[in-house]
Amino acid sequence: MKPYVICHMMPSVDGRLRTERWNVSERAHQEYERTANTYDADAWLSGRKTMEEFASGHWKGRSRRGGKRLPRTDWVAPDAQRPGQSFGICLDPNGKLAWKSNKVGGDPLIQVLGEDVPEGYLTFLRGKGISYIFAGKKGAELNLRTVLDKLRRKFGIKQLMLEGGGETNGTFIHQGLVDELSLLVTPVADGAPGEPALFDVASVKPKKAIAHLRLKSVRKIATGMVWLKYRVQHNGRRAA
Ligand SMILES: NC(=O)c1ccc[n+]([C@@H]2O[C@H](COP(=O)([O-])OP(=O)(O)OC[C@H]3O[C@@H](n4cnc5c(N)ncnc54)[C@H](OP(=O)(O)O)[C@@H]3O)[C@@H](O)[C@H]2O)c1
Repeated sequence: MKPYVICHMMPSVDGRLRTERWNVSERAHQEYERTANTYDADAWLSGRKTMEEFASGHWKGRSRRGGKRLPRTDWVAPDAQRPGQSFGICLDPNGKLAWKSNKVGGDPLIQVLGEDVPEGYLTFLRGKGISYIFAGKKGAELNLRTVLDKLRRKFGIKQLMLEGGGETNGTFIHQGLVDELSLLVTPVADGAPGEPALFDVASVKPKKAIAHLRLKSVRKIATGMVWLKYRVQHNGRRAA
């Protein structure tokens, strides 16, 4: 059984995402956090590119040759599970990011990997006390349902905030795994083609819309933002 997934984002009116291009006030970012906190989520998840902002650069270790190969089995850090704990989860299939500690934004970090991740990277994560789970033989072919099922089973995550960027949101919604959207539409027209947008399905150009939405609520909030909530419907049904 998967967690309930809410995609919480702050797009421009034309659906683009790179807030650093917009010169918006700190208050707008605070609204993003405040509205996220109105949900009772146990975790938040972002893609590798979004997580670069929180990481300490790229991992530059070398893949060990010879020696003992660590098994490609999930590893839960000893101090990762406490009652009421919230988690930060990073889709980093090829083990690119370096971390100073086992926390991201104050929450214990969980790395989602492919089994073809460099050997030394697992040693690095264990040394830092960072939990990791595998979701496919190859990093390029992660099974997102497996990711969600493991997060529920191994970490007790029942409600998850999906927090971008566009590629990550795109693959989740395309696979029918998003239940709800929570969008803070920001009063900016970005205008740059090719910039990350709310849902980018990278590998294929979908022939038709990938999801239909049912409006739940509309609210005007600070700094002229509009907070829209939608239920996601896939072929007329809710996410499975
Ligand atoms: N306005 C907002 O609310 C908001 C919120 C979040 C992010 N952002 C912005 O969004 C931008 C980044 O968005 P983005 O679309 O370029 O990147 P992204 O979604 O943050 O990260 C994409 C990367 O994550 C990994 N990944 C994602 N889905 C995967 C899957 N299904 N299977 C395997 N790997 C997967 C891949 O990593 P590898 O390349 O390592 O394989 C992929 O290249 C940043 O500028 C960020 O600031 C804005």
